[in-house]
Amino acid sequence: MQILHKKMDLTSHSKQKSEKTAPNILIADDEDSMRLLLSFVFKNEGYQMHFAENGKKALEICEKFPIDVVIQDLKMPEMDGIELIKRLKQRHPKLPVIIITAFSNWENAVEAMRLGAFDYIKKPFDNDNIRAIVKKALQFSKHTAEFEEKFQIIGSSPAIRKVLEIAKTVAPTDTTVLIQGENGTGKDMIASALHANSLRADGPFIAVNCGAFASDNLLKSELFGHVRGAYTGAISDKKGYLELANKGTLFLDEIGEMNLTTQVLFLRVIEERSFLPLGGTTPKKTDVRFIAATNRNLEKEVHAGRFRQDLFYRLNVIPIYLPPLRERKEDIPLLVGHFLAKHCKKIGKPPMRISENALETLMNYHWPGNIRELDHVIQRAVLLNHGERIEKIHLSSSYQPKEKIQLPPSGIHLEKKLEEIEKQYIQAALETTHGHITKAGELLHLSLRQIRYKIQKYNLSIPLKNQKNENSSQ
Ligand SMILES: Nc1ncnc2c1ncn2[C@@H]1O[C@H](COP(=O)(O)OP(=O)(O)OP(=O)(O)O)[C@@H](O)[C@H]1O
Ligand SMILES: [Mg+2]
Repeated sequence: MQILHKKMDLTSHSKQKSEKTAPNILIADDEDSMRLLLSFVFKNEGYQMHFAENGKKALEICEKFPIDVVIQDLKMPEMDGIELIKRLKQRHPKLPVIIITAFSNWENAVEAMRLGAFDYIKKPFDNDNIRAIVKKALQFSKHTAEFEEKFQIIGSSPAIRKVLEIAKTVAPTDTTVLIQGENGTGKDMIASALHANSLRADGPFIAVNCGAFASDNLLKSELFGHVRGAYTGAISDKKGYLELANKGTLFLDEIGEMNLTTQVLFLRVIEERSFLPLGGTTPKKTDVRFIAATNRNLEKEVHAGRFRQDLFYRLNVIPIYLPPLRERKEDIPLLVGHFLAKHCKKIGKPPMRISENALETLMNYHWPGNIRELDHVIQRAVLLNHGERIEKIHLSSSYQPKEKIQLPPSGIHLEKKLEEIEKQYIQAALETTHGHITKAGELLHLSLRQIRYKIQKYNLSIPLKNQKNENSSQ
């Protein structure tokens, strides 16, 4: 079998010529016979084949060569297959890994899928089947690269793959899309991507936060516009968002906050594509594509009588659900890499790396603020760290194991201490939500009144992005 190794290694090193055109496939299996079998299976596929008889070697090959797909066994000596996939995903999160597994090792295969394996194949396998899976993985890599470039939406979990697939299909249509997901899961991002990849991309993209208006009338006036004299203070005609978004996309963010009377008016707009400005008598036509988003479960809102069922059906033509980050943790390494590159570039630093330990800490956290929170954590770590690598100590205290409280002999002033903590949390929530007071309140389970009171009490500064919107409307 030594000869076989040699031949395989030779293959590895002679790849330079065809590196650019032929996809590079790595087989990691400790059994010589399996490596030999797979080399025959892929013989006529035009791939550049690489072979490793253990996990360590597999990692080395991935560092040296531009591997496109890994096919790996789960049972290997030294570093087992689970450990290998963990490390591969940390170092090369986008690399599709196909698992070969014996039926008896089924539980590990499930674990491997959870860790981000692309697919699995059971022994004994069908040659055509494994060839087809490799083709699919190569195609997926190509699509992901295209998508990342176009949409800048990062992730390789099955959930995000599904989202991207739907987004790609519906983007160029005029179909109404409803995006649901917790705060910070990427709803705005998907909405903009849908517009940017639609036939309306040259037209306006107007986002309205239905939850950011103090009164329903204000929202109506912003949406529908008004004529002069429609109400006190309406000194001239004003175009509403429905008119401004003509030939483009109107993104109704936080649609779950829209109250029932506005919902009735809106239903008519969707059905008739025309609307009446406040105080007006002549309906205006509008050519708009609607995208709506909410962090509420709209179906539940319908059952509770807070959202009209007919409007829900009109909006929910194509539903897109963005799962919370804690349910797609396999996307974390990829996102971390993306945010590291983004924040380093912003401040003119060469790209930093992250230690395994620090990454593990991030993987173990439950991310209530989802991707936005991860983005901020990485940003902070990049700013605070002058070295080349993010270590666990650069992550903020929420991600560190809790230390035992040491009470100084003189005691502490508990009220003051609590106020200090309160202040820090409110400031962090305001930063996380870009100064959106309502959302910051939701993150802290405080009512709007409570959070406003505390902001005033501690004289806290509100980050700029949503300040204007909220202050003028809440
Ligand atoms: N898949 C992703 N890849 C890269 N960045 C992402 C991804 N999803 C979200 N982000 C980033 O996370 C942040 C939050 O995303 P976004 O504002 O779209 O979330 P949201 O669901 O609209 O949040 P909210 O409910 O608070 O309005 C943004 O900075 C966005 O660029
Ligand atoms: Mg949003």
